[in-house]
Amino acid sequence: MLEVSTEPLHIKTGELIAEKGEGPWYEPLFTDGRNNVGLICDVPGAVNDHHFHPDFDEFWVILKGDLEFEIGDYPIISAGKGDIVLAPAGDRHLIRTMGVGSSVRLHVSKIGSNHESKNERSSEIVPFPDQTEPPNLLHTTLNTVIAQKGEPQWVSSVVQNPLNTANLIYSAPGTPHNAHWHPEFDEWWTILKGELTWDLGEKRPIYHVKQGDIMFVPRGLKHYILTQGDETSFRLAITDSEGLHVYQEGDEDAPPPRE
Ligand SMILES: [Fe+2]
Ligand SMILES: [Fe+2]
Repeated sequence: MLEVSTEPLHIKTGELIAEKGEGPWYEPLFTDGRNNVGLICDVPGAVNDHHFHPDFDEFWVILKGDLEFEIGDYPIISAGKGDIVLAPAGDRHLIRTMGVGSSVRLHVSKIGSNHESKNERSSEIVPFPDQTEPPNLLHTTLNTVIAQKGEPQWVSSVVQNPLNTANLIYSAPGTPHNAHWHPEFDEWWTILKGELTWDLGEKRPIYHVKQGDIMFVPRGLKHYILTQGDETSFRLAITDSEGLHVYQEGDEDAPPPRE
């Protein structure tokens, strides 16, 4: 079993995808202690083994290509790069790669989960749920969230359940924000658009992180994140669902950040 890293990780998925080629392949990336996270590459026409799991909501971030998702008995969802798709606990899911190129999706799946439970799609398609605003939509696209929330800066909770919180953060270049640290939980981000830097303190290098990359910062390290260049940035920040004890410089009773 993978161990949770106690050092920062910068995973350049673009380079990994280029190295590994058209697929199919699977690349495990890391664990955050709750989820296993990895990349799944499939060729056009490939279909996963449909299944459901009663004990957690699974979600995916599309990094490349076009996919169709059958979730529960809802109509088919067509998803592309930058989209987030969620299969609620108990809902069967089947994933098919469309188009002419291979697809790559990041999966976020509960550690130790069982993906063996089968359930056929019903002959009756049920309408999509009425809910139109996040969190926990079956399908979240950057464009629909921008249409709802407007210009940066904002944060929108995209996944919220007992296992995970995933917040989508939209920032303009140079937008200042407060460096902070949290001694009790790790945090990791997938960059959906733009380029950013992670400054983790004087004793560490500055990380230059771009679209498709993943940055993992272990608990206790102070982080200052800045959007670079002249493009706005989107990042999906994933933490546990409690998010306890976030400290900033000057807070009373703040334990010092880790070095
Ligand atoms: Fe699954
Ligand atoms: Fe943080």
